[in-house]
Amino acid sequence: MKIVCLGSGNVATHMANAFNDNGADIAQVWSRDLENAKALANDIGARAISDLKEVDEHADLYLIAVKDDAVAKVSKALKNVNGLVVHTSGATGMDVLQDHKQHGVFYPLQTFSKSQPIDFIHVPLCLEANTEENMDLLQLAAMKLSPLIYEVDSKKREVLHLAGVFACNFVNHMYQLSHQILKKNELDFEMLRPLIMETAVKVQEALPEDVQTGPAIRNDKKTILKHEELLKKMPHLQEIYKNLSNSIKKTH
Ligand SMILES: NC(=O)c1ccc[n+]([C@@H]2O[C@H](COP(=O)([O-])OP(=O)(O)OC[C@H]3O[C@@H](n4cnc5c(N)ncnc54)[C@H](OP(=O)(O)O)[C@@H]3O)[C@@H](O)[C@H]2O)c1
Repeated sequence: MKIVCLGSGNVATHMANAFNDNGADIAQVWSRDLENAKALANDIGARAISDLKEVDEHADLYLIAVKDDAVAKVSKALKNVNGLVVHTSGATGMDVLQDHKQHGVFYPLQTFSKSQPIDFIHVPLCLEANTEENMDLLQLAAMKLSPLIYEVDSKKREVLHLAGVFACNFVNHMYQLSHQILKKNELDFEMLRPLIMETAVKVQEALPEDVQTGPAIRNDKKTILKHEELLKKMPHLQEIYKNLSNSIKKTH
């Protein structure tokens, strides 16, 4: 399977490497910045390009893994390509690719950072395609990476992505705020890691609403007031604390 990778960021890097490791031929890596394209392409024996006019017209799969706002523009600039054109965005409809006869979506429901290794075997792949034949092709490609394959349309994918923002991006931001609080008081983030791990492990078996703990669900008013007082000089965090405590109280 010959693949052209458009983008050289977190997702492009992990996907191109995973496809390469599983026998696909990544022919080209495109980025606006040739150096970024080279950084990925050189690792996987692909050709780095920075001009979309140089894109090989005869690949099987064109993987657009650029920031959401740039997907439509990159797609429009792909002229005369013959293979299947897909993007990797959760929040972008499949219709932005409709100029291409064969198009679809290849959305990995996972968080990717270039610096962190990922085992694709545990990555759910949400697929959408404009025809049944193209869905078959996408499934063949997806099976190279993961057994967790789902057919998800654009509307459902948008909802999955929104839920993912709560479950991952917001949760990670909470870690960052915890770090900020600890640092201000000369305490080490390392001490919190077992708590973070146990919280994530618990919801692998249970539903989050069944394992919520803390002062808000117990309605421990004095503790809540004490925490709010501790955050007096950090009004932004105090506001978040109040909002989240209220949300926990309201939903239990
Ligand atoms: N990271 C995740 O956890 C994750 C998970 C699932 C899906 N996704 C989706 O995957 C896609 C890529 O995300 P990412 O996290 O890999 O992003 P990223 O690491 O920030 O990389 C963004 C890529 O977009 C390119 N880019 C930025 N602005 C551009 C523009 N105006 N025109 C053309 N290219 C542009 C960058 O190219 P240059 O090298 O030229 O700057 C870079 O290759 C997004 O649609 C995202 O929603 C991300």
